[in-house]
Amino acid sequence: MHDFNGRRAIVTGAAGGIGRAIIAELQRSGASVAGIDRDEAGLAALGDMATVTADLADVASTRTAVGAAIALLGGPVDVLVNAAGVYVLAPAMRVDVEDWDLNQSINLRASFFAAQAVIAERKAASATGPMAVVNISSTGAYRMGTGDAALSYGASKAGLIGLTIAMAAEWARENIRVNVVVPGVIDTSMVRLMDDPEAGQAWLDTRVPLRRLGRPEEVAKAVCFLASDDASYITGTHLVVDGGYLCV
Ligand SMILES: NC(=O)c1ccc[n+]([C@@H]2O[C@H](COP(=O)([O-])OP(=O)(O)OC[C@H]3O[C@@H](n4cnc5c(N)ncnc54)[C@H](O)[C@@H]3O)[C@@H](O)[C@H]2O)c1
Repeated sequence: MHDFNGRRAIVTGAAGGIGRAIIAELQRSGASVAGIDRDEAGLAALGDMATVTADLADVASTRTAVGAAIALLGGPVDVLVNAAGVYVLAPAMRVDVEDWDLNQSINLRASFFAAQAVIAERKAASATGPMAVVNISSTGAYRMGTGDAALSYGASKAGLIGLTIAMAAEWARENIRVNVVVPGVIDTSMVRLMDDPEAGQAWLDTRVPLRRLGRPEEVAKAVCFLASDDASYITGTHLVVDGGYLCV
């Protein structure tokens, strides 16, 4: 377990399967955490913690939400995890502008503007301590293996890997590290693979060397490592958490 005592963190996508696991892991390690999501009921179910309901597809709302989260935490944050995401599917010839924009605006654009807002508040507070941003991409950046029509999603997640490298280069001089976790197929409501358990398991048996879905907690551990001081010389890189899916 990493030591986040005295650290403040914001997690977007806080009501989602992976976001919830990241929050639990950060809290267990001593961090004060604020969660942002558009799902108000999902945030309420997190219990007694700082939460902000916001639509991260909108940049102005993203800035307002980050400001509100920092006010609830009582100061600038040391960790930002961008875990909000959507999985809008359509075959290439049927991708329309709305589908395209939804994937890009949340999976890619919101990750940048949330970080920009967090860093603006940090500068305003003249904070200079170590800070970490962790983005959440997907093996969909490399491969459309489950058969889903995920071209636009994959493009947004590939963009996020490039964005992570650019953010890391830009902000390193300000003592800010930026990395990205690349999950494979993880057991959350986003994934429909096991709707047909037999076909789902057959796919896992042939395509994923560890032959099972990943658990949100396994993604959370990787996120917390990259966010922690144990990763103090790691920036601009990606960490794949996929049970070996990209190996075969
Ligand atoms: N589950 C997987 O297999 C998998 C694999 C690779 C990457 N990922 C990525 O991990 C991240 C978390 O996904 P998850 O599996 O927990 O899915 P999830 O659907 O459980 O969680 C996503 C969360 O993002 C929130 N969100 C979506 N649009 C939003 C918006 N406009 N404003 C604010 N919040 C918004 C949702 O309300 C939800 O709580 C996503 O970026 C996803 O793309 C998931």
